Amino acid sequence: MTPLHAKSTIEEIRTRFDGEVERFSDLNTGQEAAMDSVAVLDVIARAAAARLAPGARVLDLGCGAGNYTLRILRELGSIDPILVDLSRPMLDRARARLAEAGVPRVTTIQADLRELAMEQGSLDAIVSGAVLHHLREDADWEHVFSRLHLWLRPGGLLLVADLVVCDDPALNRVMWDRYGEYLVRRGGEAYRDAVFGYIDHEDTPRSFPYQLDLLKRVGFRFCDVLHRNSLFGCYAAIK
Ligand SMILES: C[S@@+](CC[C@H](N)C(=O)[O-])C[C@H]1O[C@@H](n2cnc3c(N)ncnc32)[C@H](O)[C@@H]1O
Repeated sequence: MTPLHAKSTIEEIRTRFDGEVERFSDLNTGQEAAMDSVAVLDVIARAAAARLAPGARVLDLGCGAGNYTLRILRELGSIDPILVDLSRPMLDRARARLAEAGVPRVTTIQADLRELAMEQGSLDAIVSGAVLHHLREDADWEHVFSRLHLWLRPGGLLLVADLVVCDDPALNRVMWDRYGEYLVRRGGEAYRDAVFGYIDHEDTPRSFPYQLDLLKRVGFRFCDVLHRNSLFGCYAAIK
């Protein structure tokens, strides 16, 4: 396993995603290397629509090519989006897709989410798809989660979809085995090994219990898992 100090740098992550825009631009497939990605898009979008009014101000952290914002737009009818990503090509594609979907006014910010600054209580919702697993030490997670809480208005909604590990080693092994079998079915053993290789080099995922405990500690009054299949799932939290 790659030790923490040897994991991908922010610059390496940005460069890799600059070249991956196409792979993140299809609402019908979602992110194919992730299990249940279309189902998770659906759960997140419907959860957003259940708690938000049309025109809601929604921050999409690690927006990629905009799949989550676009899917929420489809459920909600209208949206006031702020898109954040390390990658400029991803932000450009997300903006173009939203313009095509009838949203001409979009704020885009190219930034590391750890360094982002937003006005306190200014957001109705924050959505984050497949990006928090790039946070490293506890201090990173604590800093970002307390910022997310600060930026939401009272009653505001946090929706997170991600790769999540299991804190019990034996059960974690089962989750990884099942994910490996999924990847082999999709693309064979070489594909599985390539995906496992970049996860090992690039990602530092945390479990659901770790994240839900931390959400409570930083002040969220509600949090619960909405969906899980093996190492992939999503949750909601309310300020
Ligand atoms: C796996 S993609 C997911 C994209 C999109 N949320 C989706 O689900 O289709 C992760 C995205 O997060 C961005 N990203 C990675 N680390 C980031 C960071 N520290 N701050 C902001 N964006 C980041 C990448 O550039 C990439 O576009």
